[in-house]
Amino acid sequence: MMREYIIQIKDLRKHFPVKNVWGTDIALVKALDGVDLNIEEGKTFGIVGESGCGKTTLMRTLLRLVEPTSGSVLLSDQFLGLKGRNLENLTNEELRLFRRQIGVVFQDPMGALNPRMLIKDIVGEPLVIHGKTENFRSKVIELLNNVGLGEEHLYRYPHEFSGGQRQRIVIARALALDPKVLVLDEPTSALDVSVQAQILNLLNDLQVKFNLTYVFISHDLSVIEYMCDRLAVMYLGKVVEEADTEELFFNPQHPYTKALLSATPQFFAPDKKRIMILGDVPSPITYLDESKAKLATEITVQERLEIKALEGKEIDYIVRSSLNEVFPLKKVSNEHYARVK
Ligand SMILES: Nc1ncnc2c1ncn2[C@@H]1O[C@H](COP(=O)(O)OP(=O)(O)O)[C@@H](O)[C@H]1O
Ligand SMILES: [Mg+2]
Repeated sequence: MMREYIIQIKDLRKHFPVKNVWGTDIALVKALDGVDLNIEEGKTFGIVGESGCGKTTLMRTLLRLVEPTSGSVLLSDQFLGLKGRNLENLTNEELRLFRRQIGVVFQDPMGALNPRMLIKDIVGEPLVIHGKTENFRSKVIELLNNVGLGEEHLYRYPHEFSGGQRQRIVIARALALDPKVLVLDEPTSALDVSVQAQILNLLNDLQVKFNLTYVFISHDLSVIEYMCDRLAVMYLGKVVEEADTEELFFNPQHPYTKALLSATPQFFAPDKKRIMILGDVPSPITYLDESKAKLATEITVQERLEIKALEGKEIDYIVRSSLNEVFPLKKVSNEHYARVK
């Protein structure tokens, strides 16, 4: 069956310059380093990877909160009624229309909610900004009802709510302008496990009810497995593997994906090898001076200690991806891609 894509990301790069004290560029942080993704309509696309791998930068670049260094984002006619529009070619007015159709939910609901605003004003804010204030009160109540809250919450402040309820308020606001897509950046990472499940179920219900496409960012594999139809594994600004969820969990190809899976006990099958990732994730910094670049990939003292500590612990092998060659994405099987030889 043909897949309908709502957003197609092509070779997207975002490099942040690193300056020395004199203001001269000495290095680049390659937060995004050539990302390609096809996001299918009405489905949940997961992005998983450790802290610092570029997940939030991807989201911010997609929303054009930051300008990419290069690359393009192709939008389906769902957004502006015109097929094959590139995000980078939109006029300011079109960009505004596009942004209206993407709701955003961040990890920290308290940070996203102005503590001095009433819930009715927080949830209704997008309506006010976009001049859709007709039937304001009943619209806000409807938005609250969508997330299991109601009229009795209109005149309360964020601090009167629990973490889970606050995230419901954020979700209610994200839905205010009838978006096509919700971008969820670690939406449940700050919540207790029991509350987490309620929010995830709510999101699944809302997806069906409003035919939403989700871009779901998380570092938590069990949440990803529960939520996502397809996912991309990111490492140091690159997608190292992309496949439908089940295929990726049962047939991982890239050493980093394997290591991620084997680090989560519930995904560790006895026949799979135990894999360790050594040290912290290496820095995405590329030095403009080649001699420093070489230094950055040498094994550190800490890593030597870690290797020693692993002796006799039945670890099958160790990956340290900064020392590995980076291969182009290869088609492993139908709809399954990985950066392997
Ligand atoms: N505005 C910025 N200026 C410089 N470096 C940045 C900026 N934003 C992010 N980075 C760097 O880009 C990399 C990716 O960050 P981020 O996208 O936040 O990762 P994640 O969300 O996966 O934790 C990190 O090394 C981070 O320090
Ligand atoms: Mg992040």
